Amino acid sequence: MPVQRVVLNSRPGNNGVPVPAHFRLEETTLAPDLEDGEVLVRTLCLSVDPYMRCRMNEDTGVGYVTPWQLSECVDGGGVGVVESSRCSACSEGDVVTSFNWPWQTKAVMKGSALQKVDTQVVDGHLSYFLGAVGITGLTALLGVREKGNVTKGANQTMVVSGAAGACGSVAGQIGRLDGCVRAVGICGSEEKCRALVEDCGFSAAINYRKEDIPAKLQELCPMG
Ligand SMILES: NC(=O)c1ccc[n+]([C@@H]2O[C@H](COP(=O)([O-])OP(=O)(O)OC[C@H]3O[C@@H](n4cnc5c(N)ncnc54)[C@H](OP(=O)(O)O)[C@@H]3O)[C@@H](O)[C@H]2O)c1
Repeated sequence: MPVQRVVLNSRPGNNGVPVPAHFRLEETTLAPDLEDGEVLVRTLCLSVDPYMRCRMNEDTGVGYVTPWQLSECVDGGGVGVVESSRCSACSEGDVVTSFNWPWQTKAVMKGSALQKVDTQVVDGHLSYFLGAVGITGLTALLGVREKGNVTKGANQTMVVSGAAGACGSVAGQIGRLDGCVRAVGICGSEEKCRALVEDCGFSAAINYRKEDIPAKLQELCPMG
């Protein structure tokens, strides 16, 4: 079966800016039959995240992610649907996710490496499994719960930098839900400031490109 995939074409160098030419789209062929434990999946959503920049280097610099290899299919968070299965844990039609999903239109994967998800949880918005209901939401949750020291009733204000990003926008909302009386976001445009306040429930937002951050923090968080 012919499929299309994205491979790493070249590396930008440790400090280079990634451009489309660092990637290449190519065709490949999947084996016609599945082996025991394997599943054929069709890709529905892929996530592009900041940590992937490290994966474009020969050495990621950290132990928990591996570098992408030249001329190999790149991978990351993904969601797809099972088209056929020789794994008892997965059935045709199941929606599944993985942190190591190949950027390929269809792929043969080990069923044991896939997590089955309930699409009702996200009301059919499958990309949410790569955002608020996936690794970015979990990162925000752990950040706030493990490091945030939020105490309900303590009249706390949470300040979030990178607030309009995938993790930051969720972190501020969790802070409010966990008991902060105010969440103030710092981001880089008026449009993002508006979205943080109107869509994400932040109390206020600071545009670091236009505003004096220390002065605005004193104004918005007078009690610290
Ligand atoms: N996503 C995950 O699951 C995950 C997991 C572990 C760790 N992390 C780390 O968490 C951080 C945020 O990840 P994310 O997924 O939320 O990324 P994201 O969606 O790309 O958001 C990052 C935000 O950072 C801001 N930013 C970019 N350059 C900046 C600069 N020079 N100074 C200040 N702000 C800047 C951008 O907003 P403005 O344009 O408004 O500045 C952007 O919205 C990254 O360091 C990532 O490696 C993420």
